Amino acid sequence: MGFPTTRLRRLRTSPAMRRLVAETTLLPADFVYPLFACPGKNVHEPIESMTDCYHLSPEGIAAEAAEAADLGIPAVLLFGLPKTKDAVGSEAWAPDNAVCQSIRRIRELLPRMLVITDVCLCAYTDHGHCGVVKDGRIDNDGTLELLAKMAVAHARAGADIVAPSDMMDGRVGAIRKALDAEGCTETAIMSYAAKYASAFYGPFRDAAHSAPGFGDRKTYQMDPVNARQALREIELDIEEGADIVMVKPALAYLDILYRARQRFDVPLAAYNVSGEYMMLQASAQAGLIHGDDGMMEVLTAIKRAGADIIITYHAKKAAQRLRS
Ligand code: PBG
Repeated sequence: MGFPTTRLRRLRTSPAMRRLVAETTLLPADFVYPLFACPGKNVHEPIESMTDCYHLSPEGIAAEAAEAADLGIPAVLLFGLPKTKDAVGSEAWAPDNAVCQSIRRIRELLPRMLVITDVCLCAYTDHGHCGVVKDGRIDNDGTLELLAKMAVAHARAGADIVAPSDMMDGRVGAIRKALDAEGCTETAIMSYAAKYASAFYGPFRDAAHSAPGFGDRKTYQMDPVNARQALREIELDIEEGADIVMVKPALAYLDILYRARQRFDVPLAAYNVSGEYMMLQASAQAGLIHGDDGMMEVLTAIKRAGADIIITYHAKKAAQRLRS
């Protein structure tokens, strides 16, 4: 039955009608809010490459997490900056580093908030790679033990979820084994399972001081030309014990998210990365796009494609919009 009996515009006649038939609903509970923890006290430094993002010392991280919690955002994702960098990134597993201190601060202030931590060496190594370097190459197997130590340090400090973003083979299994051996059987793993070598990490690398000092990340992060391989990456991570899997970036990879949603029944996260965020900020700043409308549209698209969890720097602003 076609026109004129059928008129799809009937379902768009008012805001209430559109809400009634909405197939996708965005909620503050979908968001994870990323934060950058740095050592020290009362540090509150704007990050030049990322609008409205700051380097915060542990008490500031807890205060910012509290603001997110008030808006209904259930989780933060912590990235750390070290005091000093070295070849293996040893500050990554120091029990008193900025991330571990921040976890404890959030735990004290907000017992119900979920704390997720990034597990990767790139911000901690002097060469900026996500693994250790051996003979000029990134040494996969030699990196696993270090990542496992880092994950255990976070779990001991009170992290609910550890999130390895390094893309070494076998790291999920190594981390699960180490956590279990320490009795941290309830610490969950959210793996950056399908993480692509992307230009959209540019602003983040300035923020985390983590750009590779030589070469690039193409020997460990995925090649953007591949989609089926993403499903293999995800499948292997689930087999190794990942509780939640992630596709990253989000916007240029919505097809990957959609395919992962069709294939797997584990919770699926998408990372709306720094370059995607700043692309919108910059075009809003230039008067080309209505920033808030663009933000809601891209977040809705990520959810519609199949994400259960959206990691985004827009989290606070989007949660505010959803409440108003
Ligand atoms: C660390 C890591 C990166 C991001 C998250 N974890 C950078 C990279 O892989 O170079 C990027 C996040 C963003 O761009 O918002 N491995």
